[in-house]
Amino acid sequence: MLSSTTKSLFLAALLLTAGSPATAQKAKLPTAASIEQRIDALLQQMTLEEKIGQLNQYSGREVTGPASNRKNDLLNSIRNGQVGSMLNVKGVADTRTIQAEALKSRLKIPLLFSLDVIHGYQTVFPIPLGEAASWDLAAIRESAHVAAREAAASGIHWTFAPMVDIGRDPRWGRVMEGAGEDTYLGSQIARARVLGFQGEKLGGTDAIMACAKHFAAYGAALAGRDYNAVDMSEQQLWEVYLPPFKAAADAGAATFMNSFNTLNGVPATGSNYLQRDILKGQWNYQGFVVSDWGSIAEMVPWGYAQSKSEAAQKALAAGSDMDMESDAYHTTLAQLVKEGKADIKLVDDAVRRILRKKFELGLFDDPYRFSDLKREKKVLNDPQHRLAARDAARKSVVLLENRNNTLPLAQQRTIAVIGPLAKAKRDLAGSWIVLADTTQITSLHDGLAKRAGKNTQIRYAKGCEVQGDSRAGFAQAVETAKAADVVVLAVGETWDMSGEAKSRTDIRLPGVQEELFQALKATGKPVVVVLMAGRPLIFNTIADQADAVLYGWFPGSEGGTALADVLYGDYNPGGKLPSTFPRAVGQIPISYQQYNTGRPVTKPGDIRYKSAYIDAPNTPRYAFGHGLSYTTFKYDNLKLSQPSLAAGQTATLQCTITNTGKATGEEVVQLYLRDLVASVARPLKELKDFQKIMLKPGETRTVTFTITPDKLAFYNRQLQWQAEPGDFQLMLGSASDDIRLESKLTLLP
Ligand code: GLC
Repeated sequence: MLSSTTKSLFLAALLLTAGSPATAQKAKLPTAASIEQRIDALLQQMTLEEKIGQLNQYSGREVTGPASNRKNDLLNSIRNGQVGSMLNVKGVADTRTIQAEALKSRLKIPLLFSLDVIHGYQTVFPIPLGEAASWDLAAIRESAHVAAREAAASGIHWTFAPMVDIGRDPRWGRVMEGAGEDTYLGSQIARARVLGFQGEKLGGTDAIMACAKHFAAYGAALAGRDYNAVDMSEQQLWEVYLPPFKAAADAGAATFMNSFNTLNGVPATGSNYLQRDILKGQWNYQGFVVSDWGSIAEMVPWGYAQSKSEAAQKALAAGSDMDMESDAYHTTLAQLVKEGKADIKLVDDAVRRILRKKFELGLFDDPYRFSDLKREKKVLNDPQHRLAARDAARKSVVLLENRNNTLPLAQQRTIAVIGPLAKAKRDLAGSWIVLADTTQITSLHDGLAKRAGKNTQIRYAKGCEVQGDSRAGFAQAVETAKAADVVVLAVGETWDMSGEAKSRTDIRLPGVQEELFQALKATGKPVVVVLMAGRPLIFNTIADQADAVLYGWFPGSEGGTALADVLYGDYNPGGKLPSTFPRAVGQIPISYQQYNTGRPVTKPGDIRYKSAYIDAPNTPRYAFGHGLSYTTFKYDNLKLSQPSLAAGQTATLQCTITNTGKATGEEVVQLYLRDLVASVARPLKELKDFQKIMLKPGETRTVTFTITPDKLAFYNRQLQWQAEPGDFQLMLGSASDDIRLESKLTLLP
């Protein structure tokens, strides 16, 4: 789609005129010192307009934001060196053609091409929230690496990923794009994704620049409504929402993207505190910040700027280096500088940061090094990529229920595959797949049909739609179920019910899907439910009554194959929830990091004058870290190296894990901690470490964790990160609500 529309935008006028660009050669990457010298030399030659040109980013025809009201002739601007980067242009053919135009500018500064490669470029991986459920950092890194290989082979230099926003409100549609509710898990995953996209050092032609977004605290939008205000204490900001960004920066993320929300009244795009004090100051960040789509100009409707010009002035002063699609810098910054309202030193700093990345990518030495048609064709058809996608999808599946060991499916004679997502393909890709070929996706039905032996008959009925109240398909679905030995019911959301600008006030399973489940359950046949969605959903009837429940998220290109692997037990599910699943939307915002309060519920049902609801338990439907297996694990032999620590010392905590079942399986051993008394009330549990191990039946392994002072620390009221003397409860478990072993550690004064 995009390439043809982009072609209409550019190619028609260009094919005859495009220079015969040099073929992609193996350019030797310049050294850091030489880069700074070359930037200095270039800056001296640049006019003010050319400098501001580097700060502008525009979209190709495929837009991922509100329609731009830009007036300028984009092609002319590119030729005149007034554009630094394009987004939403993909493929060697189109990127080469446009790059050739940029190289006609006076100083021949190459463009950066960027795209939202969030969970795959051509090969689609599970949505990031699904990948987070794998708790498998190596698989997550490999997924980002495969996405980078494909994108880099197609002329893309830069992805707007990883999204590292902590999300504790499943009404907010963008929870699908992050790594869930927990800061520690989210920080580990942020690092894995940055390294996956960029490699250990930027500049390889199988790597692209990462972008840590959305800076910051975007996931805490009031009422779960996208683009809304964020109000929170500094302590929450530093303790919960900033660490994944710091992890991304420490992993070398080449860029950051700011966010649409205000933080305590100040739009992030105009926040000196976030972008200059914290990011470029305390963290000494040397990359550059791109604004989110139009967020500079959006400071006007926020009531934080009188005009686009004032917005540009505030954004530059606050540290927003590149303007995505506001056209604010392009139209107002030169005048602001001339009037002394914008500091040319800040313009130079922003330009330097952007040019530095173009040099590091080797684009000045060979602007076409990412644009090799032969390589694009080869890489995009690499069969290894679909194997990686299948592996990632299998690892993302979470087994929520498995009553009477209904799963794995025995060699059934007849399987009824029912539901609105049973044959779905596009839905399995989820949101944020910009122009991938979603016709090549394996549906659950096709995955099962491929896997089932020749003695098994697969029967299909849709039953109902995802949304809407028509029950017209129920009768046929019931008949199909009656004729089968087992029902596999595929329900959930459509791909476009989560993602950006997809907040929902009601996160129950949409439409009449749960009624369809009840009609099928009434046949007396075992019903296995496979849920696919971009967020935690509420489905209490299914949770209470289904014989088995799998959460598949949106599993990507090989989703149907991977789900069949799990359903048949070819792969024993080891996924663990990265987000809490509420019983009711009224419990939101909800996470496992609850506080004891002054009136804790100590006995179930004893809620009189206690911190409790009168119409629902405080506990979620499924807890953070929950996930079953086709086998069982025994936790034993807890050993703490010493009962107390002097300041600065470390201890080790170990236990043995035994596979006490009949299937090889993976367990995520989770280490939680509680600071029992401190200068600020601490949560009942905080995840401080985890290890994912594979055990054969009967196998025992010793797992060891190191308890460092850092694991005991928190931000106190003076915002100092420090551990306070006192007692700490240490917990090892299979889920945040499934603690198997406990111990106590004292930090000495
Ligand atoms: C969108 C999103 C951001 C994305 C950008 C470019 O509005 O907020 O995550 O990277 O625009 O598509």
